[in-house]
Amino acid sequence: MSIHNINISLIPSNPETIVSLNKINPDIVIIDLDVQDDKCSQLITKIQNMIYTPTILVTGIFSNPVKIIKAIKMGALEYIPKPFTPENLLILKNAISKSISIVLINNKDCNNNNSPFINRIIGCSKQIQSVKELMLSYSKSGASILLLGESGVGKNLIAETIHKLSKRSSSRYIPVHTAGIPSTLIESELYGTNTGAFTDARSRPGCFESASKGTLFLDEIGELPLSSQVKLLRILEEKTITRLGGARQIPIDVRIISATNIDLSKAVRNKLFRQDLYYRINTLTISIPPLRERKEDIPVLIDFILKEPGSKHSITTSGVEKLIDHSWPGNIRELRNTLERSKALAGEITRIDENHIKIDEG
Ligand SMILES: Nc1ncnc2c1ncn2[C@@H]1O[C@H](COP(=O)(O)OP(=O)(O)OP(=O)(O)O)[C@@H](O)[C@H]1O
Ligand SMILES: [Mg+2]
Repeated sequence: MSIHNINISLIPSNPETIVSLNKINPDIVIIDLDVQDDKCSQLITKIQNMIYTPTILVTGIFSNPVKIIKAIKMGALEYIPKPFTPENLLILKNAISKSISIVLINNKDCNNNNSPFINRIIGCSKQIQSVKELMLSYSKSGASILLLGESGVGKNLIAETIHKLSKRSSSRYIPVHTAGIPSTLIESELYGTNTGAFTDARSRPGCFESASKGTLFLDEIGELPLSSQVKLLRILEEKTITRLGGARQIPIDVRIISATNIDLSKAVRNKLFRQDLYYRINTLTISIPPLRERKEDIPVLIDFILKEPGSKHSITTSGVEKLIDHSWPGNIRELRNTLERSKALAGEITRIDENHIKIDEG
């Protein structure tokens, strides 16, 4: 990790100190221990409640050791004797890297890729790093990709990001929520219609044509009725479509990304999903692990969500701990909703704490 920029703010010790600290949101706080005894202890306790903010003390040569021990017990990380020497500053450097490696809070540090698109996928865990590596390498190929993962793990986000990373990014990305379309309408939605195909049918392109030279995202592909699976397979193999009510064969140049939260190989065994189609859409696979298997991503996601534009909330350490303890069956979507609810429950208080966090035990 390299530190390119250090901003130092000097703030006085007074009743406004914590408010000023909240505004600055520093990575590290250095307190002069010559600040009055009881005030200093109170300050350290308050700072410890400010998430991820290590505290270092600066002590006078004649500082009372009892006072130093008391401050360390309150949660101060290190102390540096005055005046500062280059050696003393090494302690500072260690404390900074400790804070970053322990809490993994600076998302920029694990999102050190060149592409701003891949950095939309928040997370520092090994699991999410390997998902990102697969995304980067698969986006270069034109082969079909199957995304597997529970509800809310980020399949839509990942599909769209792969499109943005690919050579097809200047053409359209068309997501189709196959489970949400009545089975009678799936084919007209995918392949389009010509006037007269059925009563009131207008001439219009389907998703395959709209996604020409771009990416078609077939979400919840496991829900596609068997009857539609046959036709989809033929189209993917022949790379041409015919609109409903039309006769002309239209060539298609579309990259397919599919996603499902069901066990598709089991659906194949149970004859609910065609094996040939399964092989056709599953050239490359990315499995996105559930949040409970990569809990170290939780603090980073919380930080990201709470720093989104328009959000003015922060969270206490005990609040983060409560969120880490939950198993998140609804994954990141559930985490996002829980934080939204917590903000509403916190009302005027901009610092969410554990009492504001109501987990939906469903
Ligand atoms: N790694 C991540 N970084 C940032 N945001 C994420 C991440 N993963 C998911 N999200 C966010 O979580 C929410 C749910 O993600 P998404 O809709 O992509 O999940 P999904 O796997 O498609 O769920 P479903 O199976 O229910 O359709 C979205 O708001 C998305 O932006
Ligand atoms: Mg989805």
